[in-house]
Amino acid sequence: KKDLKGQLLEINRQAAKYFFYQLKSERGTIAYEYLTNRKLSDETISKFGLGYSNKYSNDLYQYLKQLGYSDEILKQSGLVSIDETKGAYDKFWNRVMFPIMDVNNRVIGFGGRVMGEGEPKYLNSPETLLFDKSRNLYGLNVARTSRKHNMLICEGYMDVIALHQAGFNNAVASLGTAFTGLQANLLKRYTSEVLLTYDSDGAGTKAALRAIPILKEAGLSIKVINMQPYKDPDEFIKALGADEFQKRIDEAQNSFYFEIEVLERDYDLNDPEQKTKFFNEVAKKLLVFTEEIERNNYIEAMDRKYHVGFDNLRKLVNHYGATL
Ligand code: CTP
Ligand code: MN
Ligand code: MN
Ligand code: MN
Ligand code: MN
Repeated sequence: KKDLKGQLLEINRQAAKYFFYQLKSERGTIAYEYLTNRKLSDETISKFGLGYSNKYSNDLYQYLKQLGYSDEILKQSGLVSIDETKGAYDKFWNRVMFPIMDVNNRVIGFGGRVMGEGEPKYLNSPETLLFDKSRNLYGLNVARTSRKHNMLICEGYMDVIALHQAGFNNAVASLGTAFTGLQANLLKRYTSEVLLTYDSDGAGTKAALRAIPILKEAGLSIKVINMQPYKDPDEFIKALGADEFQKRIDEAQNSFYFEIEVLERDYDLNDPEQKTKFFNEVAKKLLVFTEEIERNNYIEAMDRKYHVGFDNLRKLVNHYGATL
């Protein structure tokens, strides 16, 4: 008899197969058309094992029961809820399904998207014995086999899939949560450089700013891709194509410059008082560089950009922290 984890993995694998089969069936037509409208090819759908969960049903529950699984273990899979009065029902209804795999291609959970408008836009598996969002990255099972020297980190399932379809087979996404140290360490096993391609809205910028120190802590070198005027990689690629995205990769900005650029938005540099405050903040940020040459290089870069004067800025940095 298999252990609990083994059985849960088997249930997830069966569920993924079931959702995939549903997508290809008559009932899955709306989901298949939804994905086709979003420009996903059959090859991509198969590669990521996308699927469909039926409308208002407990079909998955019935299917898994018939395979011999007990109510008890099905509850633990997070795929069904069993209510004393209402009986058993599937967690995912009428959604496009994204199986989430660990680095060893084992299905550990699912994300499900409503087709069109609706709340929540994405519904994800609850944390289970198998599924811990904070220590997995969507797409890493594929991206780990990429021969590119870096990895792209984006926000969403669709971003990862659109990037892979466009030939960027090194894309991964954190699973709708803030990027964690565990995820950074996981990435570090496969690459030394990451390119952040978070959404270009306020939430995406904030998420990127929070991820940078965590990635740095893991020893990764970090660049940030500018996706303007598009919102995310999926939309960018749909509008401008892979070649233009590659250009954005080539032009990706050092994460320190990105942080400074975001900081600058809060200050009116035509106002001497605000400009002074801004340089004080820049000086504090420069303290992250603990090697003299590196710190000086960045001070020099700030001088080139803002004409603050190398010595002025260096004095200010020394004022805030240890002189190197
Ligand atoms: N997310 C989630 N729950 C939500 C909204 C988002 O788990 N209610 C996660 C999903 O993993 C999603 C990611 O956060 O892919 C990014 O969210 P968002 O930018 O809103 O969605 P997109 O990935 O752009 O989705 P789409 O293109 O399908 O609209
Ligand atoms: Mn977003
Ligand atoms: Mn999107
Ligand atoms: Mn998005
Ligand atoms: Mn100058």
